[in-house]
Amino acid sequence: MAKTKTAYFCQNCGTQHAKWMGQCGTCKEWNTIVEEVITKEEKSDWKIDTEPRKANVALKVKDIEIQNEVRYNAVSTELNNVLGGGIVPGSIILLGGEPGIGKSTLMLQVALSMKHKVLYVSGEESQTQIKLRAERVQNLNQDCLILTETNTQKIFKAIQIEQPEILVIDSIQTLHTDYVESSAGSISQIKETTTELIKFAKETGTPVLVIGHINKEGSIAGPKILEHMVDVVLQFEGDRNHTYRILRALKNRFGSTQELGIFEMRSGGLREVKNPSEILISKKDGDLSGTAISATLEGMRPLMIEVQALVSTAVYGTPQRSATGYNLKRLNMILAVLEKRAGFRLGAKDVFLNITGGISVDDPAIDLAVIVAVLSSNEDEPIPQNYAFAAEVGLTGEIRPINRVEQRITEAEKLGFEKIFISKFCKVSQKESNIEIIKISKIEDLVDMLF
Ligand code: TYD
Ligand code: MG
Repeated sequence: MAKTKTAYFCQNCGTQHAKWMGQCGTCKEWNTIVEEVITKEEKSDWKIDTEPRKANVALKVKDIEIQNEVRYNAVSTELNNVLGGGIVPGSIILLGGEPGIGKSTLMLQVALSMKHKVLYVSGEESQTQIKLRAERVQNLNQDCLILTETNTQKIFKAIQIEQPEILVIDSIQTLHTDYVESSAGSISQIKETTTELIKFAKETGTPVLVIGHINKEGSIAGPKILEHMVDVVLQFEGDRNHTYRILRALKNRFGSTQELGIFEMRSGGLREVKNPSEILISKKDGDLSGTAISATLEGMRPLMIEVQALVSTAVYGTPQRSATGYNLKRLNMILAVLEKRAGFRLGAKDVFLNITGGISVDDPAIDLAVIVAVLSSNEDEPIPQNYAFAAEVGLTGEIRPINRVEQRITEAEKLGFEKIFISKFCKVSQKESNIEIIKISKIEDLVDMLF
């Protein structure tokens, strides 16, 4: 029996301390240090009976052979895109997201639709529960195996028997290894079990898809080092009250982090959304004031997003400002710019802003649509539904150019918009198109044209 040893770990950043302290010296968080039992002597390995391994030899880059260039097709095109073209053999992919957002559903759907032998290990749900979910999402891969287990040594034993081609772990926080004595979900357990999974993935070339919980700040629970250890970090986000979910890569060793996938949560599981712009724009009869459509870019993908604003007289002394899906500070800035540059007395008005579809946007190109929506509501003057906007607004009220403007114009044109308002300083090559491009340089120009 190995001698037990304890250490103090910060549950926020994962730093190990020699003694307990009220504040972590590294991340400066209070009351996050917890004592955990560790056994130093034994070193864990994913294999049950360790055989002596050969030492690796250094090779010249040109001499390194790429054997498994092929990527596993994750079936879902959205997931394949986000991963940069499929699952790389031997890679370890971490999927984080809020509880109930659909992480388990996504992973199970992937497991069930792949043409490979997948072992889905769950520490959160029973086999019956998973079976019920599998029936709900209905694409049965006969070779998908379900295991409920949380001990990594037992998981590896099952792997040696079943020899799966792909491993799914739901979730890393439920796993524990025999070599560390602290409870599942603690920093040392997460570190150690991840290390074991990485060793397993690299040595066998089996890709491992791992679900991770997130903490209240929105980052993956456990040590930050976890994100450094894995090859790909994916985040599944969205508003639980809406059906749309966005999958994005925060880190990707094998592809870009610019791609994103859009899914819709239905009663029969997640469905890919091929044409998101069409759904994100709310359908309505006739023109209503207070809405404007922005041609934004989410990652590499153009998305037409509707901005809704409501401006009303403030009932209380201090006017209220609220924004859903848009940065409130930026809204305040834009209102100040409008007050100064366009002479709108918004200081005595409540302003509410909403991005439809429950998504949040940080593309600055949405600024112009925000301004138009606010002014439209303030003036009670509807904006024609076939107008789109794409520009950033500066503090002096200037309409600034944005990147990839042509891509946005093409998307707007494809969806039947007739006019798009962009900055005068955007360079657009003149070509035959059905959309009229209106270039403006100041907020005043916009006001003259629309109101
Ligand atoms: P789940 O995958 O369990 O979330 P996570 O693993 O991220 O915690 O998803 C749970 C939610 O998804 C739950 O609120 C019900 C909903 N859901 C559907 O709407 N349709 C479905 O077909 C399934 C399986 C789940
Ligand atoms: Mg789950």
